Amino acid sequence: MTAAYGPVTQWLAAMPKAELHLHIDGSLRAPRLLSLAQKHGVTLPYASVEDVEAAYEFDDLQSFLDLYYLGASVLRDEEDFYLLMQDYLEVCRRQHIIHCEIMVEPQTYLPQGVALGTVLQGFSRAITEAMHWGQSVKLILSFLRHLPESDCLAMLEAADPYREHFCAIGLASAERDFPPANFQTLYREAAARGYALTAHAGEEGPAAFIRDALDLLGVSRIDHGVRVVEDPALREELAVTRVPLTVCPLSNVRLCVYGNMREHRILELLQDGLCVTVNSDDPAYFGGDLLENFAALENDLAMDRSQALALVRNGFEAAFLSETERADCIAALDRYLAEHPL
Ligand code: HPA
Ligand code: ZN
Repeated sequence: MTAAYGPVTQWLAAMPKAELHLHIDGSLRAPRLLSLAQKHGVTLPYASVEDVEAAYEFDDLQSFLDLYYLGASVLRDEEDFYLLMQDYLEVCRRQHIIHCEIMVEPQTYLPQGVALGTVLQGFSRAITEAMHWGQSVKLILSFLRHLPESDCLAMLEAADPYREHFCAIGLASAERDFPPANFQTLYREAAARGYALTAHAGEEGPAAFIRDALDLLGVSRIDHGVRVVEDPALREELAVTRVPLTVCPLSNVRLCVYGNMREHRILELLQDGLCVTVNSDDPAYFGGDLLENFAALENDLAMDRSQALALVRNGFEAAFLSETERADCIAALDRYLAEHPL
């Protein structure tokens, strides 16, 4: 695999990195999807791994979400959640993602009657094992914006006994018809409970949704945010405030936010001084993990070493870490750079 990477991505391969935008359900790969469907007697319209992967052709966010929620419906018991988390944390280990922030969407499992306690028991078992090799993991309680705010508030309440598992809340799913303005009470309540705040905005929705996520929801980070390019004043503001954008290049191309990777604007935003980071979003569906996202930037946008390093540094700057934790991560990065200089 590494041999196929260009020289910049090869240099990045063993560099300590952070990943901040990853939906755990989006890391469910076809072989495990099929084996869990069989285990639980769930009938899917796919007979083979090839059938599942052939369905990974999306016209837009909604066409992806339909498949994504169908995939997540095979997750039923503690062992399933354990294996799902274990699979992703193995990717972190292989790709030297020393710190990850993972979006968990408990509302997705409610139709199957899976309790939050079951989900978190499985996840926690895998996370505890990964901590033995030094893995740093934080979870983000992510809400589904196509559901009413009252449902989200009920889930926030239900998550109270598990408060210590989560560092932040997030807002995902269909963006265009479900603006940030609909979730002001949810964000106010979450802030009062001490969660950090992030939200998907400016992926399919307009730049105005980024503005509203900042002003109406009070977020300190934006997931995606690439449509900031449509609002020059906001773009300038984010260069000053350095409110981070967790950008997902392969996702943006697979969901047709851009026609192809050469149209992606992430390096321009980096050049302007915005705190843009690189992430995989839903790696099972979009053709690659974190390194493959960097590889795409190298191959199609000629990302050089100094740009790559700035993106990696931004990942640690943008993380919901304590200052001590952040300093530890940056020290690990600096040790790598001493051995493998720019
Ligand atoms: N956007 C919104 N919701 C999502 C995404 C995304 O890219 N991936 C998983 N849920
Ligand atoms: Zn996302």
